[in-house]
Amino acid sequence: PVRAVLPPDIRARKGQAPLVVLTAYTTPVARLVDEHCDMALVGDSVGMVLHGMPSTIGVTMEMMILHGRAVVRGLQKAMAVIDMPFGSYEESPQQAYHNAARLIAETGAPCVKLEGGAHMAETIAFLTKRGVPVQAHIGLTPQAVNTLGGYKVVGREAEADQVMQDALAVEAAGAFSVVLEKVPMGLAARITQRLSIPTIGIGAGAACDGQVLVVDDMLGFFTEFRPKFVKRYANLGGLASEAIAEYAAEVRGRQFPTEEHSFADVLKGKQS
Ligand code: KIV
Ligand code: NA
Repeated sequence: PVRAVLPPDIRARKGQAPLVVLTAYTTPVARLVDEHCDMALVGDSVGMVLHGMPSTIGVTMEMMILHGRAVVRGLQKAMAVIDMPFGSYEESPQQAYHNAARLIAETGAPCVKLEGGAHMAETIAFLTKRGVPVQAHIGLTPQAVNTLGGYKVVGREAEADQVMQDALAVEAAGAFSVVLEKVPMGLAARITQRLSIPTIGIGAGAACDGQVLVVDDMLGFFTEFRPKFVKRYANLGGLASEAIAEYAAEVRGRQFPTEEHSFADVLKGKQS
């Protein structure tokens, strides 16, 4: 069997072909992501996308472990990254280590992602030195929606310097890569050039070392919000709605099920 892809392999991809990342929350989607992508991110976006939560704030460790295990079962080649949920790591490096170790040990994912720049650097270093590789996440950090006051672009004009400082701080702390969310493209390009670890952009322009999207967004299955950075590659929501409408009409019209989907009372010849 081939050796699993691990964070150092991802780190070494800097300057090579762009890294391709999608979120996954279930085994069947993880299998699809595994076929085509380098990483499957078990994002805390699962709370909004699959559980109808208004933000990622209410996502729990138990949810991340349940979905993380499902995703890891579907992967053979791609590397799993699992988000640390709100409240599981911010209090102290020790709290972060306790919960990161649980996420890794209980799901089989080799690393975690957490939100925050310079102020999380001490925690990133604490984890990294103790066998927990960390993907950082800076720029727009959705778990901070209540202090940021919305999902706005982060890093325009005077704010740009802080985002650059965050990028340098997470790299120095030992992060093996960093997600840049909703950062202006010129700044993302400067960060990408300056860092020796890969940058993974979402709404951060084409210069990043990789790209990530929420899989249900790009498939058109989750349509509650539509950020400007989402390109719709399919309209699965529309297809699913048509299919369910047809099913409902056929049940009401007694057109489904037919004999094809039913079982005979007496077996005649070769049947199942
Ligand atoms: O939770 C998530 O899906 C994420 C990506 C948008 C980077 O953190
Ligand atoms: Na996330």
